Amino acid sequence: MASPPIAILGTGAHAPSRILTNEELAQRVDTSHEWIVSRTGIRERRVAEPGQTTADLASAAAAEALANAGLAPADIDLLILATVTPDLDMPATACLVQQRLGIPSGAACFDVNAACTGFLYGLDVAWSMLSSGRYRHALVIGAERLSSVLDWEDRTTCVLFGDGAGAAVLGPARRPGAAILASRLHTVAGTSDLLHIPGPSYSLEPAEHRRVIRMKGKEVFKLAVRAMEDVARELLEQQRISGDQIDCIIPHQANQRIIDAIAQYLQLPLDRFFINLDRYGNTSAASIPIALHEARTQGRVQPGQLVLLVAFGAGLTYGGALVRW
Ligand code: UT7
Repeated sequence: MASPPIAILGTGAHAPSRILTNEELAQRVDTSHEWIVSRTGIRERRVAEPGQTTADLASAAAAEALANAGLAPADIDLLILATVTPDLDMPATACLVQQRLGIPSGAACFDVNAACTGFLYGLDVAWSMLSSGRYRHALVIGAERLSSVLDWEDRTTCVLFGDGAGAAVLGPARRPGAAILASRLHTVAGTSDLLHIPGPSYSLEPAEHRRVIRMKGKEVFKLAVRAMEDVARELLEQQRISGDQIDCIIPHQANQRIIDAIAQYLQLPLDRFFINLDRYGNTSAASIPIALHEARTQGRVQPGQLVLLVAFGAGLTYGGALVRW
């Protein structure tokens, strides 16, 4: 008998309780609530407490995803964590989460860095590994503590980002039809300088570099719209489905205007898009899994529905996945 397809069995999310509003930011840098809302849609974001790390946020999100899937830590034999803000340069933050959650020795644990597309890169890799039959259940986590790599004096970046984590459990489908149907990953060559965190450079003394996000926002904006539109079309064509068959689109939560543009180019109504960037800002690899979890818990994603996930990020990486819930 053919083995069942791989599906998403559960989701979870966790964000720090500390809320940083636009008004508070306007007291620190030359900006305003009105500018931030009109140019990005962001109203507030979460920021980690001192000492609260990416592994802390990831562990809480993953524990919720496990409970939602009705699985125990011992059921997990693959853990992939997407982040650009790991607790340590080594070992991988995935190994720290393994220990926190009590996932047994023997599980494969590693991090992926594909910036804001990281969760979709992790999802594709986990899907492939589970489909091979060599692994049974995977935890895929996107988690970030971006507040530690922001230049809080740079108004062009510090207003955009936030901290948080989201997670999904993957495994053999339990309902007929439920499945990850397709996934595509890409990178635009020659665009690495548009969005990056200089360092850690082991050829420099620590005092010579600052590990903060640097970004050419306008260029990223244009490429982001084109990339997400392209990958969405690619998936729809590959699966021979039309845009109006998609029940819910969960885009990377970077900027309301980017989402508006994609909706316009794909000729899809905006109310088909799940948007929570007003409350979290851009949480990079955590953005899609937090949104997916909220969409599910708010009833925006129902069994049998078709869900499209699309993201872009530093690299510039981009990708998409089609999931039958
Ligand atoms: O996950 C990927 C992450 N990256 C992104 O998603 C970035 C994509 N890019 C964007 O979202 C937008 O380009 C930004 C939100 C970053 C900027 O919006 P924009 O409409 O492209 O603004 P701009 O860069 O053209 O700047 C317009 C003006 C400039 O002033 P001048 O030169 O016209 O006097 C900026 O200095 O707005 C100024 N500005 C600000 N003013 C108030 C830039 N940031 C701020 C700010 N508050 N926070």
